[in-house]
Amino acid sequence: MTILVRRTKGKLPANKIRAAGEAIGKGRIVVFPTETVYGIGGDALDKDAVRSIFRIKGRPPDNPVIVHVAHASDVRLLVSEIPATARILMETFWPGPLTLVMKKSEAVPNAVTGGLGTVSVRMPANSVALSLIKAAGTPVAAPSANLSGRPSITTFGEAVAELDGRVDFIIDGGKCRIGVESTVLDMTRKLPLLLRPGGLPVEEIERVIGGIDIHPAASGRGKFRGRAPSPGMKYRHYSPVHSSVILFEKGQASGPSIAEARDRLLSSGFTVAMLVTDEARLRKGVVVRLGSSKEPERIAKGLFSALRRLDRSRVDFILAEGIDEKGIGLAVMNRLRRASGGNGPEELENLIALKTGTQR
Ligand code: TXA
Ligand code: MG
Repeated sequence: MTILVRRTKGKLPANKIRAAGEAIGKGRIVVFPTETVYGIGGDALDKDAVRSIFRIKGRPPDNPVIVHVAHASDVRLLVSEIPATARILMETFWPGPLTLVMKKSEAVPNAVTGGLGTVSVRMPANSVALSLIKAAGTPVAAPSANLSGRPSITTFGEAVAELDGRVDFIIDGGKCRIGVESTVLDMTRKLPLLLRPGGLPVEEIERVIGGIDIHPAASGRGKFRGRAPSPGMKYRHYSPVHSSVILFEKGQASGPSIAEARDRLLSSGFTVAMLVTDEARLRKGVVVRLGSSKEPERIAKGLFSALRRLDRSRVDFILAEGIDEKGIGLAVMNRLRRASGGNGPEELENLIALKTGTQR
């Protein structure tokens, strides 16, 4: 049975957060809010708890999970060495949407790191998450709460719909403030390497420590070949179950426009929704506007919920408009490219053929 910890008048009872935290200390699994997305957490030092998380999510065992701490000093237990630059980043951006990959200590079970010699750590900027981790009295391993491959979860309702009956607690933290996951930086290299763009923009990191390396797969473009420095790169992710996402990149030169693709699909009898900015000049059909292209933070915040809502409505195609890769826009584009599985407008006819079951 899952205990649902609800808010009353916008507030969560402190004793219930404490009870959920103490349950983590006893090996239980708790879904909780962070400033980025909801996480599904358990005791990071208890390999059985960590294995349950993988089982519940259906996560490939080689894809490591992030360990969440409530005090920067807790990092010492988890890593064998804290590079000087990592220290600066922790002091500047924690608590916040920045995950740092460092060499792991003996204390961290292999189940957490997928067998890697490194561990990723972050301190979330969310008072519920921090109280929960403190009450647990142990670092909390927590991947995003979605089932493996699906869009991440950013509201309590989505968490209940996906995980009720599968975990011990689900805590209502309302809507996540940022809406995309943390930025993941590999700190084991001379120049830190961006593995996943996220809630903390690259520009802000570079303002503090100067230039960083950006892994080519961090854009979310293309299929990953070879050994992935971050296993999460190589798996299908953020994808709706029923709907096919087609991404219309900014400045795309070939293929139909969103309006042309919509008309083509509607005339073939498909249902279509358009996931676009406020500025898009589209009238006909189902138009979901995520916000102005001048406010990428707002777009990020609503992105996953919109994908989930449209998927629930079982729309055949979601035509998504790309945005600038500035600031948090890079994280938004990474999620959209991966949700689309790399499908752009030039794939339209192939996708139609696939959906109608006729191979061209
Ligand atoms: O915002 C977030 O980061 C959320 C909240 C719950 O904190 N968590 C999250 O976890 O997004 P998850 O498991 O969905 O994504 C973690 C990503 C994966 O792509 C994984 O491959 C990568 O981080 N990762 C974790 N540990 C790593 C390591 N030691 N080396 C390289 N990549 C790692
Ligand atoms: Mg995830």
